[in-house]
Amino acid sequence: MTDQAENLRNIMRKKMGAAEIHDDEPVVRESEITIPPPPPVPISARLITVTSGKGGVGKTNFTINLALSLSKIGKRVAIIDADFGLANIEVLLGIIPKYSIADIFSGARTVGEVIADGPLGIKFLSGGSGLRNMANITEEQISFLIEQFAYLDTIADVILVDTGAGITDSVINFVRASGEIIIITTPEPTSITDAYAVIKSAKEDGGNVPQINVVINRVDDFDEGAEVFSKLARVTQKFLGLTLINLGYIPYDTNLVKAVKKQQPVVLSFPDSVSAECIERISKLLFEIETPRKNAGVKNFIKKLSAIFK
Ligand SMILES: Nc1ncnc2c1ncn2[C@@H]1O[C@H](COP(=O)(O)OP(=O)(O)O)[C@@H](O)[C@H]1O
Ligand SMILES: [Mg+2]
Repeated sequence: MTDQAENLRNIMRKKMGAAEIHDDEPVVRESEITIPPPPPVPISARLITVTSGKGGVGKTNFTINLALSLSKIGKRVAIIDADFGLANIEVLLGIIPKYSIADIFSGARTVGEVIADGPLGIKFLSGGSGLRNMANITEEQISFLIEQFAYLDTIADVILVDTGAGITDSVINFVRASGEIIIITTPEPTSITDAYAVIKSAKEDGGNVPQINVVINRVDDFDEGAEVFSKLARVTQKFLGLTLINLGYIPYDTNLVKAVKKQQPVVLSFPDSVSAECIERISKLLFEIETPRKNAGVKNFIKKLSAIFK
């Protein structure tokens, strides 16, 4: 006869994939059961490249504030400043790190030594001018870099890559190596056409196209944001056959401008401001979106990047 407790036990065992046990089965004492360790789960940080085509549209501010918002909801975040030579991230954070990516590329320092601490536990790799000589990189340097950047996987859940202005080879390479990207555009026509050009360059790869998320920054109101998004999405669908994901809109916010002057990210200096609230909403939305995990990790990114540089 099976009693209530045995029923429950069997339900639990079934849930855990074990066979049912019945009264007439030999009893195995708990102490005799050795539970095998769970199989290792391959965890890879989610790598997202933030880009725009046109400069000055708000990429660096967005990247930093997104990083802080993600940190607030419990994610471990690292930023790679890939706007080499301009040191934007550190200027906006008001922090001057000792080393930069250039020191990793030269083989002089490890990622662990170069990575700097930002507010709320976020980490960042300062840009320096590391990629200038990337064209002449040796096999040895490539394996050192892959090994180094793989370390980021162990310290971050999300890695944000902030890129420079213009549709340069470097930016296109980052976009094509990424599993997912966030395109920032403002409602200005030149910004929209540049955003489209970046999307097109991602497609021309011929290989996997990254998941393309869009944020419309510096809008007058949400209607304007919706209008810009649908215009861009329509053209992209029609001419490139690609579907864009709408992450949302950020209004023009004088608090953000004030925050830049204070060298303090807006989500910290004006947490109740409209731009801070919008970026926090985007940080949450980002984790409601299903991502192509197998292509979104840092290892895949470095592998693809190094293949480009070979
Ligand atoms: N939502 C916004 N509201 C008001 N000003 C903004 C907003 N986003 C960006 N800006 C302004 O644009 C400037 C450039 O931003 P930044 O993040 O450095 O752009 P990018 O990295 O694309 O070159 C900022 O210094 C700020 O003055
Ligand atoms: Mg920038």
